[in-house]
Amino acid sequence: MSGDPLVDSFGRTVRDLRISVTDRCNFRCTYCMPAEGMVWLPRREVLTFEEIHRLAGLFVERLGVDGIRLTGGEPTVRAHLPVLVAKLAGLRVPAGSASPLAGQPVDLALTTNGSTLRSMANELRAAGLARVNISLDTLQRDRFVAMTRRDELDRVLDGIAAAQEAGFSPVKLNAVVQRGVNDDEIVELARFAREQGVEVRFIEFMPLDADGRWLADDVVTQAEIVATIDAVFPLEPMPSRGAAPADRWRYRDGRGTVGVIPSVSQPFCADCDRVRLTAEGQFRTCLFATEETDLRARLRGGASDDDLVAAIRRAVGSKWAGHQINQVNFVRPRRTMSQIGG
Ligand code: GTP
Ligand code: 5AD
Ligand code: SF4
Repeated sequence: MSGDPLVDSFGRTVRDLRISVTDRCNFRCTYCMPAEGMVWLPRREVLTFEEIHRLAGLFVERLGVDGIRLTGGEPTVRAHLPVLVAKLAGLRVPAGSASPLAGQPVDLALTTNGSTLRSMANELRAAGLARVNISLDTLQRDRFVAMTRRDELDRVLDGIAAAQEAGFSPVKLNAVVQRGVNDDEIVELARFAREQGVEVRFIEFMPLDADGRWLADDVVTQAEIVATIDAVFPLEPMPSRGAAPADRWRYRDGRGTVGVIPSVSQPFCADCDRVRLTAEGQFRTCLFATEETDLRARLRGGASDDDLVAAIRRAVGSKWAGHQINQVNFVRPRRTMSQIGG
């Protein structure tokens, strides 16, 4: 049964659900986690595959969502992830919906650090995963170790190749840029992506690091990133992005595209179409939300589908206009990026 679309009080329609399947990760990226001392959720607090599937089904079949992205922590460290992928890949966008995917399977994607893809890419693809985005912030081994606190650059590069060999399309790379850390590699990362035939998106550093060290001066802005690339590989802008977070450019020589996710310098909250479910079943209407709706308690307390749908609609109805990173009254969310899911 299809229902009314999920529209918030600012007229934005929710179409994209990001589901964190675990808070755990095999890396410790400095912009996301502390070196030590992360306390993982106990297993019983994490949603089961059945619980995730039930909620995802409601979002797709009754609430107008046509895209699902699995995140973490690192989603591939969740045991038996392909089993969940297969369950979710079976969800279909209702035939009568306004979505371009009406009558087709939901657009199912994964955001990963790439380190496990050599062994998992084929299985994930066979299970019905459509797309993968892979984090890659540097091509220098020592710097990779400094940024992720793991010596895994070669495995990640091999994981990117494995994703392409498995037939994922598109494969995108995500590079978080921090001033004085990896901003001297913007051109090299752009060159690498061009050569591999993938799109890299440079991401402005956001105040979601566990150590609370973020400073506005650390943010390399979209304007700086684009100017740096354009000086070496001339760019032209592509048409407006719609609800996607990345602005995109085309290389004038025809060799591919590049994106920038300008969360800080040019917030895109007014076009936001996404909501999030954390690994323990808390529903968040914004990456930076300070309030959550406890869907797990409702699931485990015997709520009906109608109860769950009503709770989700209520939460979306009170979604705020957007984050206020650039304002003095900005309040950091209690959670770090790894506990939200990026
Ligand atoms: P596609 O465009 O569907 O390929 O995916 P995506 O870019 O939405 O997903 P991905 O997980 O690769 O996210 C890339 C980056 O975008 C993440 O690092 C986040 O930092 C940022 N991002 C995603 N969603 C939001 C959001 O709602 N708000 C803000 N400010 N940033 C977001
Ligand atoms: N600022 C911007 N992006 C971040 N990510 C993690 N932490 C931050 C941050 N503080 C990105 C990762 C990955 C995605 C899930 O989130 O690089 O691409
Ligand atoms: Fe793990 Fe991703 Fe956070 Fe890095 S950014 S520590 S890979 S969850």
